[in-house]
Amino acid sequence: MSRSKTILITGGAGFIGSHVVRLFVQKYPNYHIYNLDALTYAGNLENLSDLENQPNYTFIKGDITDELFIQELFDTYKFEGVIHLAAESHVDRSITDPLAFVKTNVIGTIVLLNAFKDCWKDDFEDKLFYHISTDEVYGTLGETGLFIETTPYDPNSPYSASKASSDHFVRAYGETYKLPYVISNCSNNYGQNQFPEKLIPLFINNIINNKPLPVYGDGNYTRDWLYVKDHAIAIDLIFHKGKQGETYNIGGFNEWKNIDLVKLLCKQMDQKLNRASKASEQLITFVKDRPGHDLRYAIDASKIKNELSWEPSVTFEQGLELTIDWYLNNKRWLANIINGAYQAYYQKQYG
Ligand code: NAD
Ligand code: DAU
Repeated sequence: MSRSKTILITGGAGFIGSHVVRLFVQKYPNYHIYNLDALTYAGNLENLSDLENQPNYTFIKGDITDELFIQELFDTYKFEGVIHLAAESHVDRSITDPLAFVKTNVIGTIVLLNAFKDCWKDDFEDKLFYHISTDEVYGTLGETGLFIETTPYDPNSPYSASKASSDHFVRAYGETYKLPYVISNCSNNYGQNQFPEKLIPLFINNIINNKPLPVYGDGNYTRDWLYVKDHAIAIDLIFHKGKQGETYNIGGFNEWKNIDLVKLLCKQMDQKLNRASKASEQLITFVKDRPGHDLRYAIDASKIKNELSWEPSVTFEQGLELTIDWYLNNKRWLANIINGAYQAYYQKQYG
């Protein structure tokens, strides 16, 4: 059995974080998992209601940008490992409010780095700061090519610029203070518990409610999709077996043009909802493009595959079906989210 450890997971009430928290709480009874989350619009404790009574799990409500609070937290709990997921994560929101992204993604990361450094600077042995990042830091690809770990950073949105900046700070702390770190840059996740502002859950919700499916531009943008539970498994492997000071790219080996993905989603939804063939496709509506829209992301994940024997466990068709089933069986979760604040955002974004 693994030795006992205190681990801080930030952003654990969000989409990916909740899957990481569950995996760690269930797989490592010897670890104590502290989930620190500010519960912004994207944080939802309902995602983790099944873990409430687990003895090795504690939820802490708090903001990573609150320096004093974070310092005190490290003084109290002496987190040996940090898995840092808390972030503002939606590109469209970063276009309307860039500063919120700088605050949480850049300043919040530095506050955590400082607290971790001050806590362990005399003994970094067996400690790790794991920073979760995105493939968007590499900018955009043309029709060909793949992002590798050494692809130069070239972010195009305020979101990706803030994530790139936080990655640089993590690396700089590694060089300057010898702080032990690892970074992973992942492609687009999909799966259970994703907030319905991102493409797949937004469109599932709209199909259920017979609302238009707002495809940006001509829909010929490409993303590389990964099932969220496979991302959580990759994070577990990197946390335990990754090399300090290294970056790992994580992707699904699974590129889809948005319009093709939306048509597949419509087809699967029509089957689940017993609707006529192509019924949901009628809802597709081409709308104004996202400013600075990156044409294509695609990850070369051969480093994590070769070094840590990681591969996606499900095909896209399987993962999408699991996702659709979950949303159809959890309409209460969706209804609880579609509250006043979300309605206001939707109105502003799509009119
Ligand atoms: P999310 O928006 O679903 O969740 C973010 C969580 O962080 C929420 O629970 C929110 O309450 C919390 N949070 C926000 N600001 C905070 C603050 N100041 N202090 C404490 N908590 C705060 O995001 P996600 O999609 O789960 O992404 C998690 C991480 O993974 C992010 O760092 C993101 O950049 C990265 N990532 C996401 C994807 C993706 O496709 N979703 C892909 C690659 C990388
Ligand atoms: O690549 C990893 C990134 O993936 C993560 O770092 C981000 O946190 C995550 O939000 C995601 O970013 P994207 O911008 O790629 O995801 P989103 O779901 O917003 O959009 C996916 C694609 O679909 C993108 O090309 C924009 C398009 N889109 C999106 C929405 C919300 C539409 O056409 N219509 C929409 O309404």
